[in-house]
Amino acid sequence: MTGPEGVEIVGVGTAVPDGVVTNTDLEKVMDTSDEWIRQRTGIEQRYRIKADQGESVKHLAKDAVIRALDAANMDAAELDLIVLSTMSSEMTCPPTACRLAAEIGTKNAGAFDLSAACCGFVFGLNTAYGLMQTGQYRNVALIGADTLTNIVEYSTKGRNGAILFGDAAGAVILRKTSDTGKGLIAQAMHSDGARWADLSIPQTKFDLPEGVEFDEWQLGKLYMNGQSVFKFAVGTFPRVIEQTLDRAGMTAGDVDHFICHQSNRRILEAARDRFGLAEEKFHINIDRFANTVAASIPLVLNDLVSARSVKPGQRVMFVGFGGGLTWGTSLWQL
Ligand code: UT7
Repeated sequence: MTGPEGVEIVGVGTAVPDGVVTNTDLEKVMDTSDEWIRQRTGIEQRYRIKADQGESVKHLAKDAVIRALDAANMDAAELDLIVLSTMSSEMTCPPTACRLAAEIGTKNAGAFDLSAACCGFVFGLNTAYGLMQTGQYRNVALIGADTLTNIVEYSTKGRNGAILFGDAAGAVILRKTSDTGKGLIAQAMHSDGARWADLSIPQTKFDLPEGVEFDEWQLGKLYMNGQSVFKFAVGTFPRVIEQTLDRAGMTAGDVDHFICHQSNRRILEAARDRFGLAEEKFHINIDRFANTVAASIPLVLNDLVSARSVKPGQRVMFVGFGGGLTWGTSLWQL
């Protein structure tokens, strides 16, 4: 699928807020325990913005994209397009990407928010690559950023969301290259909207899933049927990886790194074991960041870049799943 010109990932950057919330901190405000959270999710801590002091997804996205631009040795004015994958937009209008573009100093680059929940980064990569192949965009910033701590309930009644999610942003800079060997090899994007209710943020009482008794606290808060999403993820992860390998005419052995949405350690380990992959190939960092939705994949990528574990010439498969329900992949030749 590589077009007349290739596309390369030339910079990666990430950002987390200062505030750390440990499992022990959560024990103080809800009925849970450090031991339960570690065993059932693999999470040890998460980061949380100070929303009451004006911190928002834009601040994290801005720090991440500035770092990615630095790594790419590129000025913001050179960007043609900014795609901000998030389900935490500050307002429904304007797109947060537009305010971000203004703050970093682009020159009227296209900018929009892409809403695909935990698939945001993967769907964003596929979208950005497709747009770059039109020939109209040479330098694109893709940011995955989310602040779900704003919409989870920090008490026992909302504990599944509170223990699972954290705030972060991760950005990549994509650039056109004359090396046609670099870029997207294969991809997949799917959804099953019939399962919308498994992960949703009801705004009115009419948005609540059937059978859920309405309570005022639920409005504007994350509703998650954890067990249902868990089962869905364990089955879907391997299937979509296999589908993408088939599309590429490859086996798991042909891929150097699998960078998957960090949802829950047990979901990730089930997928890793299904393909018999070594830990060096199938990365997990949920212990340090928790589930950061659209940011989780670039956080892993950044870890690998910092450790110099990911190199030009390698193949990387990005895999996401989440609210919608949605699931998808993006397989790249670096
Ligand atoms: O990002 C993509 C979207 N989201 C996901 O991928 C999330 C997928 N789901 C999950 O990660 C898991 O379902 C959760 C972590 C949310 C919940 O874990 P679980 O193993 O599915 O727990 P459960 O709801 O089946 O509850 C098991 C037990 C219950 O106790 P009993 O009835 O066995 O005595 C719960 O009451 O654990 C109890 N429990 C808790 N205990 C302490 C449930 N949540 C907690 C908690 N702390 N936070």
